[in-house]
Amino acid sequence: MRYTVVLTADFPSIATEILSPHFDVVAHPTEHGRSEEDLITLLAEADAAVVLLQDPITRRVLEANPNLRIVSNFAVGYNNIDVDAARELGVTVTNTPGVLTEATADLTIALILSVTRRIVEGDEEIRRDRRCEWEPLKLLGASLQGKTLGIVGMGRIGTAVAKRARAFGMEIVGIRRGDWVGELLAVSDIVSLHVPLSKETHHMIDAAALAKMKRGAYLINTSRGALVDEDALCDALESGHLRGAGLDVYEHEPVVNPRLLAMKNVVLLPHIGSATEEARNAMARIAATNVLRFLRGGEPLHRVV
Ligand code: DGY
Repeated sequence: MRYTVVLTADFPSIATEILSPHFDVVAHPTEHGRSEEDLITLLAEADAAVVLLQDPITRRVLEANPNLRIVSNFAVGYNNIDVDAARELGVTVTNTPGVLTEATADLTIALILSVTRRIVEGDEEIRRDRRCEWEPLKLLGASLQGKTLGIVGMGRIGTAVAKRARAFGMEIVGIRRGDWVGELLAVSDIVSLHVPLSKETHHMIDAAALAKMKRGAYLINTSRGALVDEDALCDALESGHLRGAGLDVYEHEPVVNPRLLAMKNVVLLPHIGSATEEARNAMARIAATNVLRFLRGGEPLHRVV
């Protein structure tokens, strides 16, 4: 029997190259804002699916598609999938850890440097004025040397960020997933988030947590937007309690809080932490191999449930 594998977006071609010799591959073009209904229709024929981190793979979607035996998420995070429902319904879920660690850690450092050294503001000035005037007091930022970086989540990516930050002369305070965050917030000049989104971590950075941060500190988030109460973050930035933020992810993606758009002390990126050719090709290879191994009766490389 030839299985059908549905791809819900345009992935690097290696995914199709791995899958199409063995299965019927139905590849859909990338589309934004797919609903549960869309997914139910899209996956109607699927024995396996390679899906995006914004595809809502809910209990309803899983129950409506009883053929579906494996959901291969093209991401390390899998908060878009109801894993409890998948477990109950006997659907395997896989992800792509490891291969995006360095890319995401690099981007975290890029955000730290961009916001503390006001790189976007400088770029805007040059394009606007078409001149480069040196001034003693222009665009003064903050040095990293001797500052404390608080890393919430010393897993793969958090550890890779720590290694880079030490090269900039930073002191590192790190906690593991589930540890108490209060002291880290109180001592850090920059706080960077590297925990997955779950019921426990949703809004872990709320108004109370932000109030614990040092006055003049920065917040960096390259993990998942809903770790942070975005309205509370805007309040903290607008009041001057926080000096800046560097964000790659948003609480209500794809929507970006309009208050953030108005702030010069915030650097905003469109969820591109893993967006290097190397990382995305490696993610595609893993996502496809997870399906290949599973449908041929083996164990996927990275099983979640
Ligand atoms: C992930 O993998 O979870 C990232 O957010 C996208 O690369």
